[in-house]
Amino acid sequence: MIMKSKSYLKIRGGNKLYGDIKISGSKNAALPIICASLLTDEPVILENIPNISDIQNLLDILRIAGCSINNFDDKIEIKKPIKLNSFLKHNSVSKLRASILLAAPLAVRTGYVELALPGGCQIGARPFDEHLKGFLKLGIKSQVNEDSLVCSLNGLKGATYTFGAVSVTGTENIIMAAVLAKGQTVINNAAKEPEIVDLVCFLRKMGAIISGEGTDRITIEGVLRLSGCSYCVSSDRIELGSYMAIVAAAGGEVNFLNANSHQSNIVINKLVEMGCVIEDNGSSIKMSVDSNIKPVSLSTEVYPGFPTDLQAQFMALNATLGGESLIVENIYENRFHHAEELRKMGASINIEERSAKIVGGELKGAVVFASDLRAAAALVVAAVSTSDETTINNLHYLDRGYENFVEKMKLVGLEIERV
Ligand code: EPU
Repeated sequence: MIMKSKSYLKIRGGNKLYGDIKISGSKNAALPIICASLLTDEPVILENIPNISDIQNLLDILRIAGCSINNFDDKIEIKKPIKLNSFLKHNSVSKLRASILLAAPLAVRTGYVELALPGGCQIGARPFDEHLKGFLKLGIKSQVNEDSLVCSLNGLKGATYTFGAVSVTGTENIIMAAVLAKGQTVINNAAKEPEIVDLVCFLRKMGAIISGEGTDRITIEGVLRLSGCSYCVSSDRIELGSYMAIVAAAGGEVNFLNANSHQSNIVINKLVEMGCVIEDNGSSIKMSVDSNIKPVSLSTEVYPGFPTDLQAQFMALNATLGGESLIVENIYENRFHHAEELRKMGASINIEERSAKIVGGELKGAVVFASDLRAAAALVVAAVSTSDETTINNLHYLDRGYENFVEKMKLVGLEIERV
């Protein structure tokens, strides 16, 4: 079911966009890193943390667990209580998919954790059986009840675990369980996403011994304890790709500051194939777009393939450009809800199972509803392409993952208002 909220966006597109957009810290790196901070008694300082509702929700859960959190700009300091509360059958836990990432650190630190079942965007089945099978190998028993997940420690020890399905948060959970386990853990068929590398760099700063991150085989030598540290989270490659799709749909010239092009090679290559001009200047990326770009076909894959979290935005972009394209979604079985809303704006999209055939053209303004976080960004991509007014409802989805969205868009000249 799609949840509704009161605030909405009014966008009048049709203008080219010019100026700078500063990319925030990565949501999907910050979430596991905040959870991993529970693996030490000592305070942890994290920088480049985006001010978005998914992070605020997670910090609220940490407060319920007994932590105290000081917030200053994009920096947070997390201090742990003498004894963590690991009975977390709270509403805030079920609002968030990433709350599953609390299972390993809390089980390891307290011996027993009871979590409300994780929620998150409705984009597919989103099981977590792989996390639990890996836990069992390492000595964490778990039980899924009607409304909670219970994990208890039964002699934490290193083991070899081979993922049946590649899972980003699954890999993160097993790494967090293994860093304090006795002996060596080997994870085969691990996820290779940059967010895993970020988590490992943070854990290493805390004293963990890990190798192989960024490949499909990660090895962890358990240590007795981890210490506090300060760490700066990487910039958000999905936020960058979302703004790039918006600029591609509107045209213009935008400089993306605090951006990392290496993590976005495949996305940048697709935009270049479309006809965008992209210049990598180290920590910033300049993108120039004239009106003659064309759509591209793509299939989503695990990293370094095209990210599923940018599929909706690129479908919207293709729908605004003359020509045919095909988009195949290989990660989630049900991530095409945005197509229905794009059709309200005049898009021609034909879906068969995991494939969407798009015949691009001029879109018109409409009243539309975001169905998940990335679908919300996709509707903005469509809205900036037309000089009609578009109203986008369900902004709580956008708020989950895009920091200061309206302010950033206004700075590059978009007529946008939050009502
Ligand atoms: N899967 C299983 N069994 C499992 C776990 C996953 O079959 O135990 C399957 C899923 O059904 C899905 C696929 O594996 O088809 C990928 O799921 P994965 O577990 O990798 O996803 P996730 O870890 O829950 C993270 C991101 C998502 C992103 C995916 C894929 C976080 C907090 N979330 O989710 O981000 O789509 O990886 O890259 O890191 C978003 O930011 O909009 C978002 C949804």
